[in-house]
Amino acid sequence: MDELDLRTEEISTKTPSGASGFLLQNNPELQKLFFTPTENENPRVNDAKIRRLYMQAASQQWYAPQRINFDQEIATDAESLRIWRKFITIFYTLEKMGLNVIHNMMSKAVRKYKSEEMAFYLSAQTFDEARHVFAIEAYLRKLGAPPKYDWKYHVLGQVASMGAFRVENWLFSTLFSENFASTFIRRARQANIDPVGNELCKYLLVDESRHLHFLHIVLPDVMDRLSMMGRTYVKGAQFFIMKFSEMVLKSMEAEAAHVGLDRKAMMEEIFENVEKGYESFGVSRKFLWFPNIYPTKITPTQRIVVSH
Ligand SMILES: [Fe+2]
Ligand SMILES: [Fe+2]
Repeated sequence: MDELDLRTEEISTKTPSGASGFLLQNNPELQKLFFTPTENENPRVNDAKIRRLYMQAASQQWYAPQRINFDQEIATDAESLRIWRKFITIFYTLEKMGLNVIHNMMSKAVRKYKSEEMAFYLSAQTFDEARHVFAIEAYLRKLGAPPKYDWKYHVLGQVASMGAFRVENWLFSTLFSENFASTFIRRARQANIDPVGNELCKYLLVDESRHLHFLHIVLPDVMDRLSMMGRTYVKGAQFFIMKFSEMVLKSMEAEAAHVGLDRKAMMEEIFENVEKGYESFGVSRKFLWFPNIYPTKITPTQRIVVSH
């Protein structure tokens, strides 16, 4: 899976694989049995696509102790280890926050969009996030850092799921956070954290790209139904979240460079993917207010790319 490139535009939409997936190929009878969405007179989202994605999610489940060899040695210099502990703790906090928020928002989203398929799919995504938190916890222990929720970032979860348009706001915020997570783990893997971290990133990426796929299915409909006021509200909340993230990343530029992560390029990539997402929902690139990305203070010669 080394060639994995799961940018939003390259997400696989193939029929789920596995035993049942195999039987489903070229079998219209079975396809009807499984692919037909729960009857819904007034669907507000694309139920057929959401059901398909649920099936894909169900067929792609993994269990960290079986898939990832946590028994591998981690040989990193002390400073890199300190930095990865710090970054993975932040990542752990964001994943745990995402898990709490999806629990809180799932039933509201199902009600709002009157979609039983969303109930199926979001249950699977909730378990994905639980699996991520569980696996990252184990990885942090392996790095010698006790898993700890960092309350400094808690405000992000609040801004992402509050207010009059909280369901919409949550879904749009997820577009940002899933892009953020995907970009971070793809780049962390390219920077070659350590054998355990690299394996973990590989499995996380498969799930996060599916989460992005879900948003690309539902967000155009969400956008269509959003009033002028709702749109302004979403824009404001998204600006806050992006500005906050930009400031946090900026403060870690030197540390990021030490472990081979380019802070500025990462932020640019995230914003670009989010921009492309909105553009595909039928609004212009100008729809969002993007914060400025601070110019880099680090000259290329200062950049230390760690190779193991
Ligand atoms: Fe996750
Ligand atoms: Fe996710």
